[in-house]
Amino acid sequence: MEKIAVAAINHKGGVGKTTLSIILTQMALLKRQKVLAIDLDPQRNFTDALSFIADYFKGTLRVKATLEPEDAECEEDWIILDCPPVLGDITREAVDFADIALAPVRPDFFSLSNLGVLYSFVEETGKDRNQIPVVKVGYDTSRLARMVEQILVEKQYPVAGRVPLNRLIPYNITLGRIWSTGLTADARRPFEQMYSRIVGAYERMLAGDFTTSWGD
Ligand SMILES: Nc1ncnc2c1ncn2[C@@H]1O[C@H](COP(=O)(O)OP(=O)(O)OP(=O)(O)O)[C@@H](O)[C@H]1O
Ligand SMILES: [Mg+2]
Repeated sequence: MEKIAVAAINHKGGVGKTTLSIILTQMALLKRQKVLAIDLDPQRNFTDALSFIADYFKGTLRVKATLEPEDAECEEDWIILDCPPVLGDITREAVDFADIALAPVRPDFFSLSNLGVLYSFVEETGKDRNQIPVVKVGYDTSRLARMVEQILVEKQYPVAGRVPLNRLIPYNITLGRIWSTGLTADARRPFEQMYSRIVGAYERMLAGDFTTSWGD
């Protein structure tokens, strides 16, 4: 696979950017890919969470706090950028740099009303909308979640996948249990589809196809 740079963006706070960055980092590492993790948020949550697995993945995981132009030539297969909850210069540079920027979105109306602002920001950078897919975080069968899902379809926002909301993830981040040794097959299962959709979409983008990037 060609080197891929993925950013997690959203100016709405607490929607799961860092959790998504950690999941993708783990998925790539478990698939024997090398990862350069760049923590662009001064909160340093990404760095702290990755410190639990740093020893386990010595040699394949590198963590840093700033994005530099030469990172484009790094030896790693994946560059994963966790952005702060602000649409400022840092996020703009990350979006410019990234091949794909994932926007985690919770099923609530404030998250949705923010999405228009996010897409205007991103489109100013000249990226194709298909390079900025939504990741649905914590969508269940509630009426609100279904309504929000319907709006995503109507507005034709591309969707890269979903992240289930459960208690296992924060528990593991905080206590460094599964995260310290890698996701088990069971814990990994919900994210397999998202991971392969990202890889598949990227390959199609490299071939110049931006229209069918995320399938249905
Ligand atoms: N899929 C999930 N399952 C369970 N908890 C989650 C999930 N995603 C996020 N959380 C929890 O929600 C909270 C916010 O998540 P996270 O820190 O990833 O969001 P963020 O967008 O990076 O926040 P910020 O904007 O502050 O950087 C955390 O406590 C995290 O553990
Ligand atoms: Mg964060």
